[in-house]
This record gives sequence, C-alpha cells and structure tokens, in this order.
Amino acid sequence: MSPRPLDRDQVLAALDAVRDPKSGQGLAAAGLVQGLVVVGDRVGFALEVSPREAAAYAPVRDAAEAALKALPGVTRVSVVLTAEAVQKPARRTVILSPQAAEQNRPKAPVPTDRPAHVRRVLAVASGKGGVGKSTVAANLAAALAARGLSVGVLDADVYGPSMPTMLGVTGKPEFVDGAMEPHLAHGLKIMSMGLLAGADDAMVWRGPMASQAITQMLTQTRWGTETQPLDVLVVDLPPGTGDVQLTLIQKTPLDGAVIVSTPQEVALADARRAHTLFQKVKVPTLGLIENMSGPVFGSGGAKAEAERLGVPFLGDLPLDAGLREAGDAGRPLVSADPDGEVARRFAVVAARVADVLGV
Ligand SMILES: Nc1ncnc2c1ncn2[C@@H]1O[C@H](COP(=O)(O)OP(=O)(O)OP(=O)(O)O)[C@@H](O)[C@H]1O
Ligand SMILES: [Mg+2]
Repeated sequence: MSPRPLDRDQVLAALDAVRDPKSGQGLAAAGLVQGLVVVGDRVGFALEVSPREAAAYAPVRDAAEAALKALPGVTRVSVVLTAEAVQKPARRTVILSPQAAEQNRPKAPVPTDRPAHVRRVLAVASGKGGVGKSTVAANLAAALAARGLSVGVLDADVYGPSMPTMLGVTGKPEFVDGAMEPHLAHGLKIMSMGLLAGADDAMVWRGPMASQAITQMLTQTRWGTETQPLDVLVVDLPPGTGDVQLTLIQKTPLDGAVIVSTPQEVALADARRAHTLFQKVKVPTLGLIENMSGPVFGSGGAKAEAERLGVPFLGDLPLDAGLREAGDAGRPLVSADPDGEVARRFAVVAARVADVLGV
C-alpha cells in the first residue's frame, strides 16, 4: 500500500503546531511560512523573519523541519531561513502553490538593490547545461583571487547547486548581526543554496522562490566590509535561457556576463541565445569563453561566434581530466596546481575579465 499523497492542509497544520516565539501563534498563522511547495514526498518553504531576528529563529527552523519530517509520506524537507531586508515594506502573507506562484510573478521585476560592499557583480552563464559553467566559475574566481583581488562566489544555481562540492564546503552559514557569513575556502567567499537547504533539497524551489532565494543570498551575505570591499562577486547562474533565467537576471544587479560554451555548433547556438537574453535586460556580455577546447570537441568555434556577435573572445580552456578530478575533490584546479597549463589559461581569461570589469 502506498502512503496517501501529502496534502497542504496537513503540512500547514503541522507547521502551526510549532510556535512563533514572538507572537505565540503557530508558524503558518503567524504568517512566517512563505512559498510553501509540496511536491511528492518533498516539502519546502522559507521562514521569513527580519535580519535582526534571524539568529534567534534558527531553533524554530529546526523545530519546523523536525515537525515536517515526522509527517507520514515526507522524506525530504527544506526550510530556509531568510531574512527580509529591513527597508522593504512588509509583504502580504500568502501561501502560494507552485502554479499560483508562477502566476504571481511580477510583470516587470524591479532590479534589487546592489549588495553592500561589492564592487562588481559578474555572471557566468551558458545557454546549454553541462558545458562546464560551474567549473569555469570556480576556477575563474580562483584565478581572479590569484591576481590579488578579493573574490566571492554566489552559486545561483538553486536547482542544482554545485559549488559546495566543487569548492569543498559544507554546513549552514552562521548568522551574525543579521547577516550570513559566507564560507571561506581557497581564498574565496562562498554562498550557495546547497549550504542553506542541503544540495538535494534545493530542487523543490519554483521560479519566484528561486529568485527570492538568490536575492537573499546576494544581499544578506557579508561579502565585504566598508574597509575591505569585495572586488568581484562571481555568480554561477543556472543553465538555460527560459523564463526562470530571465527573471533571475532581471532581478540581479549584474555588471556584466561571461558566456561559457563548448566548441560545438549546438552549444554555440545556445550561447547566442544567452547573449540575446542579456541584451534584452541590458547587461553587457563581456565575452565568450570556450571550454573543453581541443581535439575531442574541436576548437575555435567560440572565437568565431564571438566575432559574429561582436563581443570579445576571452580565451579557451582545454578538455582536461585534472579539471574534473579537482572539481570532484572540492578544489579548483587553479588553486590545486597553480603552475599548471590549465591555471595558466585561466590566468589569461582572468586578466581579460579583470580588464573589462575595471578591477
Ligand atoms: N574543461 C574541462 N575538462 C574536463 N572536464 C570538464 C571541463 N569542464 C567541465 N568539466 C566536467 O564536466 C562536467 C560538467 O561541468 P559543470 O558542472 O561545470 O557544468 P555546468 O555547465 O555548470 O553544468 P550544469 O548545467 O549542470 O550547471 C563536470 O563533471 C566537470 O568536472
Ligand atoms: Mg553548474
């Protein structure tokens, strides 16, 4: 006998059994449950509190997770503690089904405020999945840091966050004075949905929740300070050129984007679409990067495509087993083997990127 499918009322009732310490009401009744998603055996939502209260609500999040895990038929739970920016007006509390959430998507999303103490925000994008965008983001960040820059990595791929694995970081970030402390590794400051929700759980988010989660990670992380600002924040975007990506890039204050492509024609067509998407939202494409270049997939395609699009070509990176192995082992190859050929090629790309970004 298969268990009865989960129903939302049951989930809300379970959440109401957990008290909001401030109002004394149940969590749902107190309006703290945002963007509830119930998909199959998975439940996810954001517990929305003010930045000042975020630390105090960590035990409440844990209690909510425990209450949901105790429900029959629930196998995965992700409760993300998000801190609403203080200056924003209080939002109407609505509990959205995924469909309603899609319909409620703002018609013309307003770009969010810039993250504090961050000089440049750089997106690493691709039209197509699996072209090595995250590998390039991690190693490009390391190569920029090797130039003496202060660099952060924001893993905005909330559907399949890979930075915790690629950069070897685990554990929920700490809240200190209402801001999240990024993880530090390989000289980089790192924030990822995979750290907030657990790598497997992050899949439950739908479009609007995804962009809200990214906005929170962008603006509520202590990337830099007044005296030591972050020079570059490298944002690893989810693959694709659909509505979700459009919403994300509209809502993220990006200074520029680099597009990663493999040399093949199909990937180049997707790179073209990605460029069109950035043009639509007036984010400059700083250039194209060819990844997995060499005898297997060919080479030169991205350079030719960059010329056709009239954007700079930023360099090519070889197909190299060491790059994959280092990523699997939680270390960018650029840091693991700083004198190797791959690091040298990333240094060339990083020099051009730093130049166009003006850092
Ligand atoms: N230049 C390269 N040489 C060898 N392996 C590579 C190279 N670039 C990426 N890879 C490997 O290819 C796989 C996909 O790379 P990665 O996860 O970086 O791609 P992605 O574009 O971010 O994928 P997704 O679309 O899933 O986010 C990984 O196993 C990675 O280690
Ligand atoms: Mg990726």
